[in-house]
Amino acid sequence: MEIRIEIIGFGTVGMGFLEILNRKADILKEKHGFVPKIVAISDKIKGSLIDYKGLDIQKLIKILKEGGNLKDYGKGFYTFEEKNSIDIIEEIDSDILIEMTYTNINTGEPATTHIKKAFEKGKHIVTSNKGPIALFYKDLKKMADERNLLMGIEGTVLSGTPVFNLVEETFPPNSIKRIKGILNGTTNYILTKMETEGMSYESALKKAQDLGYAEADPTADVEGFDALAKVLILSNVIMGGDLKKEDIKREGITKISSEDIKEAAKNGFRYKLIGSVERDENDKIIASVKPLKIPFSDPLSGVSGAINALTFETDLLGEVTIQGPGAGKLETGFSIMIDVLRIFKKINKQEKK
Ligand code: HSE
Repeated sequence: MEIRIEIIGFGTVGMGFLEILNRKADILKEKHGFVPKIVAISDKIKGSLIDYKGLDIQKLIKILKEGGNLKDYGKGFYTFEEKNSIDIIEEIDSDILIEMTYTNINTGEPATTHIKKAFEKGKHIVTSNKGPIALFYKDLKKMADERNLLMGIEGTVLSGTPVFNLVEETFPPNSIKRIKGILNGTTNYILTKMETEGMSYESALKKAQDLGYAEADPTADVEGFDALAKVLILSNVIMGGDLKKEDIKREGITKISSEDIKEAAKNGFRYKLIGSVERDENDKIIASVKPLKIPFSDPLSGVSGAINALTFETDLLGEVTIQGPGAGKLETGFSIMIDVLRIFKKINKQEKK
């Protein structure tokens, strides 16, 4: 079955998603009956591309890999001034809108407006954008539910390493008492390099930026704002909280020196930037982001480099720890793939009824 997809915000993650569609086209079709039809792509810098019959994914990847841009695709190209993202959302018929514009943790825009407009148009949403989910999850979920639409947010925490799909599909009827973990790859990379290679904070940050882990403004990483957005998402999506940014205590890693790291290691501890959310005895949700000294015996202590990890404290299973990539082109592209496929299966099921 064909599924019509439109993409708003087309950067590294979008490219990762296209590459997965291309590499896995046969298995997606044969095993799942999934045939993607990308009817539009719109990006503020790159412009907009429309093809009601579906863009040629292989041709597009080839153009982009050779250093070309959307306009080199030819027919169907418009500058952003001629057709912007809102025009595309309003004019184009599609089943799923994938929102991958840059995260703005302060306003959630322009992604929140894109998502709301898409719901008004009856489109399902998949997003890797943390802003709208951290700030407005409850409102957006309500809008989706009222319209019987789905909102896939797997890419917002731990990129393609399954968190929300895992919890929703395989954890019930466990009760989750606490979630804690390493939610930011850049800071974990810096702390690891400072400890294992004696690298300075500045060089390690520079390397993390070169490797593409850091946010556009790395202050978001090192001061804990990125981890805070993810803690907010975990709290409000999984733990049923209704927290605002101001409710979460936040501290970054900038005050930790190489000496602190060496001293901790001598005593069997490792500094990690830990995001945590728990339900206290009064049923209140408490959340924080701060550097903590974690004993070598804790699984979180052994998580090195840009890898992320989460420990779920559950009543039936006890502690369950997952670890995996938290950023990257294919890794975040994969998070989009999981959600698109899940929504596709649901639409397919409804149509068969
Ligand atoms: N800057 C983030 C990190 C990217 O370092 O983890 C993924 O949200």
